[in-house]
Amino acid sequence: MSRNFYKPGKPRRPTPKRHAISKSPREVFEVRIEKMVQGGEGMARLPDGRVCFVAGALPGELCKVAVTFTKKDFARGHVVEVLEGANPDRVEARCPLYGKCGGCSLQHLDSEKQAEYLAQVERENFRRIARIELPESFKVHTGPAWGYRNRARVVVVCDQVGDKPIVRFGFRKQESNSVALFKNCPVLTPALNEFLQGRARDIFAGKFRPGREMEVNLFDNGVGEISYYYEGMLAREFSENAVSVAEICGKKIEADASVFFQSNLALLPALVKSVRDAVDDGLASGEASDSWLIDLFSGVGFFAAMLMDKFKRVTTVEREEKCLQHAKVNLSVSSETTVGAVNGKIENVSAPAEEWLAHNVVDIPATLIVDPPRTGLPKEALDAIAASSVNRLIYVSCHPVTLARDTALLAEKGFKIGRAEAFAFYPQTPHLEMMLVLAR
Ligand SMILES: C[S@@+](CC[C@H](N)C(=O)[O-])C[C@H]1O[C@@H](n2cnc3c(N)ncnc32)[C@H](O)[C@@H]1O
Repeated sequence: MSRNFYKPGKPRRPTPKRHAISKSPREVFEVRIEKMVQGGEGMARLPDGRVCFVAGALPGELCKVAVTFTKKDFARGHVVEVLEGANPDRVEARCPLYGKCGGCSLQHLDSEKQAEYLAQVERENFRRIARIELPESFKVHTGPAWGYRNRARVVVVCDQVGDKPIVRFGFRKQESNSVALFKNCPVLTPALNEFLQGRARDIFAGKFRPGREMEVNLFDNGVGEISYYYEGMLAREFSENAVSVAEICGKKIEADASVFFQSNLALLPALVKSVRDAVDDGLASGEASDSWLIDLFSGVGFFAAMLMDKFKRVTTVEREEKCLQHAKVNLSVSSETTVGAVNGKIENVSAPAEEWLAHNVVDIPATLIVDPPRTGLPKEALDAIAASSVNRLIYVSCHPVTLARDTALLAEKGFKIGRAEAFAFYPQTPHLEMMLVLAR
């Protein structure tokens, strides 16, 4: 069934008299969308009172919805047709793969309005999960709505027609192994699209056996230099093609395409500025000290590199060993000029953050920044932070649900939200990057 469903002007169908819900998928109901919820879906009630999360729906709309997944207490479905009251912020999806590739599921909402809706969703997340109100000043920083994505994982599909290798690219569909092929992805940077339409075909033709699919990580360093990584890459090709240097806020940061790196370089300086301002506030108020910066879940040492000029001692902790060499380079004293930690100590540790916290006593009001994966902070890390002398925590998060959960747990230990800011790093998708300052 096509999911490019908006059919303006279609007359409203009469409501069926009885709605019975069976476990079989694809039953169709008419529902009124109450609000947008986490994940960008519309929330509605089925006739039996169960909540239904509806992909492609916007608040206020009366929709014909195909239910595709049911549980005892909730269901999921997608819009077949907007019957009445199309939301004024609804727009036509721009990409032909909308509803097919699994990404960019918010394209039916005006780009200009997405931040406003997602901010509302975050406010509700915090109320519901943490029973905490985000501050009035909570705001979303926005950047380009299209062509912003510097990092992507694409599937390279190699076929052979006669003697000729044919190389095509796609995205792995959500919760599926199949691939949605694309020629041009409108959220990737122009340089990444150009690479895929040109040089990448020559690079990957012949690398993989015909009939095979391979996942490749791509990174555009912001000035159109593309690095790539695939499993099994030989050392020489890796050092020549996977390693990159990006200049962020005047500082050169080395990484490689196999490890985490921020994916929206256009908006990244706004996050760096907010984090630096948050650090300055902490130092000025005395809640944190400049004696020690601890960057947990540090990746290639990105935040530490952006902040090290303000501290006497800097420690980065990252589980992924491959990040360690990059972190050493990024925090090396000779790599940049304005380094506060020049005469102090820089440690780059490869360990799980929770283990490092358990074995290292933080008994001074160190400045702590954490940027965990979507799963949020491990329980042991939360306990260790609560038991430490850290009075101020800068929490950067790519998943507001786990952020709200962790905020609730930290609130029990006396932490309160100071600054709360979000960054629209992933337009056309329901994801937001968040930065909270928690102080006690
Ligand atoms: C969202 S990324 C942030 C990286 C870095 N702060 C940056 O801005 O580039 C999360 C990082 O945490 C690392 N990680 C995941 N679990 C970890 C753990 N338990 N302890 C330490 N690092 C972990 C991942 O390898 C990844 O590099």
